[in-house]
Amino acid sequence: MCGIVGYIGDKKASPILINGLLRLEYRGYDSAGIATIEDDKIEIKKNKGRVNKLYELDGINDLKGTIGIAHTRWATHGKPSKENSHPHMDNSNSFAVVHNGIIENYHELKSFLIEKGYNFLSATDTEVIPNLIHYYYNQDKLDDENKVLRAVKNACKNLKGSYAIEILSKYNRDKMIVVRKDSPLVIGKGIGENYISSDIPAILSYTKEFYLLDDNEIVELSRDKVQFYDKDLNIIKKKIKSIEWGASSAEKDGYEDFMIKEIYEQPRAIRETIGAKLDNNHIEIEELEFNKEYLQSINKIYIIACGTAMHAGVAAKFTFEKFCKIPVEVDIASEFRYRDPLIDERTLSIYISQSGETADTIAALKLAKSKGSKTLAISNVIGSSITREADYSIYTHAGPEIAVASTKAYTSQLVLLTILGMYFAEKLGRIDKTKIDNLKADILKLPSQIEEVLKETKLVKKIANKVYKEKDMFFLGRGTDYAVSLEGSLKLKEISYIHSESYASGELKHGPIALIENGVTVIATMTNPDLLEKSISNIQEVITRGAKVFVITSEDIKNEELSEIIKIPKTNPLISPILSVIPMQLFSYYISKEKGLDVDKPRNLAKSVTVE
Ligand code: G6P
Repeated sequence: MCGIVGYIGDKKASPILINGLLRLEYRGYDSAGIATIEDDKIEIKKNKGRVNKLYELDGINDLKGTIGIAHTRWATHGKPSKENSHPHMDNSNSFAVVHNGIIENYHELKSFLIEKGYNFLSATDTEVIPNLIHYYYNQDKLDDENKVLRAVKNACKNLKGSYAIEILSKYNRDKMIVVRKDSPLVIGKGIGENYISSDIPAILSYTKEFYLLDDNEIVELSRDKVQFYDKDLNIIKKKIKSIEWGASSAEKDGYEDFMIKEIYEQPRAIRETIGAKLDNNHIEIEELEFNKEYLQSINKIYIIACGTAMHAGVAAKFTFEKFCKIPVEVDIASEFRYRDPLIDERTLSIYISQSGETADTIAALKLAKSKGSKTLAISNVIGSSITREADYSIYTHAGPEIAVASTKAYTSQLVLLTILGMYFAEKLGRIDKTKIDNLKADILKLPSQIEEVLKETKLVKKIANKVYKEKDMFFLGRGTDYAVSLEGSLKLKEISYIHSESYASGELKHGPIALIENGVTVIATMTNPDLLEKSISNIQEVITRGAKVFVITSEDIKNEELSEIIKIPKTNPLISPILSVIPMQLFSYYISKEKGLDVDKPRNLAKSVTVE
């Protein structure tokens, strides 16, 4: 995954670079480093550990360069160590490179370079890049101002895989070059200065004007110019994009962690998601031009995503099937892309990705598109890679989500998917209009209902304090309550490191009940009155076997054998996960805090998984 930052201007580069890296730490945090150009020399400071460890490095404050590149790493090739941290240099110390992505043919390139006399100091795939650039630089007999640019172009033509690369060269002391293929990269435009970053929020405090790069574009930046090229170095023009997010939306704003801030932002995020799409009783999705004939022709909808986004899909399936009467299959992107799925022009495929940069989800979209499916992306990041690949894109507008564990992205995705399902249903006319109207009214109530849930957090905190030392937990539910249990269980694993499993209550007897013994914690969600009796019987079965059962429900349940009941407001079961997930998010959060863990940056995880 990794995060990269770059700066060229007249200010000292190192504080700007470190500040940017701190905001990109959600992408990886096992080692970090920066390179600047001082006089005619490239200076590198790097080490294993988090970004703030850079401040402890000797001489870090003496870096005076006003041009520099920086990297925070999530190790793929080579364990976290100083040698494997970026930036990497070529053997002659003429080129420094930071890289996000994976060079798939690095073995082959490394052998080629070793044969040519190059040595390697790290176990990374990245180190082939500066050496390959050096190789092509030496091969080029023409000595003009574009020599470094040509060397970069020639090197990139040999790279297979994904990369966002920044290059500094001592031969070009007032310029830097970046290249992008299948890894995110944006350029922030300033006055007399320019910025580079893996994402927009990291540099929002410096500029609101951005260029979004497409695959295989090469960019040469100087202090007052940004020149774009295609892969053959033909000059291309790009439009600048102004971003509306305020810099403070990427700050903690007085909250202890980003995750808790983002949990509390959900009412506002959802209001933004609903925005103009659902106004009063009317749904309008301007970005889509699906008419009744097209919708009638659809024989299957695929919903494809990873992690939390996939869980939003699992919950949304119920609305699409119930309201549109079209079969829906939800799949994990990394599975879908390799299983030769049955797709044709009558398949509509929907891709959900908060970041819009998840490698597997993008690859799945490309596959479906190549087989004739219409593709629709749902993302939170305007201009993200997935939205540029898809035939249609709609946005959640939830504001930047920084904590690795996703919260407001889930609820806003589910709101948007429900609105989408109703929009299709209205056009198809396959379901009673009052049912759609009732659901619309329920959607509009969600922001204030979430506010209600967020006012009553004491009980969730109390339960978290009771159970935080446990090793295993179970989440149970039926229907959409099962769908949300998947997400509750994922949250717990991600940030509290407690093993947990989510089961459809009806499946209990087919195996998992063997794991229930005295004192085991079970979180049961019951929001569907039609399934209540059956769910209660399942709960009784685990209580009988000694489980401590905590219930999240909107119904009036009286059962003295239950440990605690967390009450949430009543809503349509199709969208109840948007409310019932809130206590689950808080539960994981409080457990993680109680255990003294880093809530925002859980071990081994990254927010944006831009590698397979
Ligand atoms: C990572 C994150 C999750 C996220 C998933 C999909 O695993 O840690 O929080 O749900 O990627 O990310 P996306 O940006 O595609 O929604």
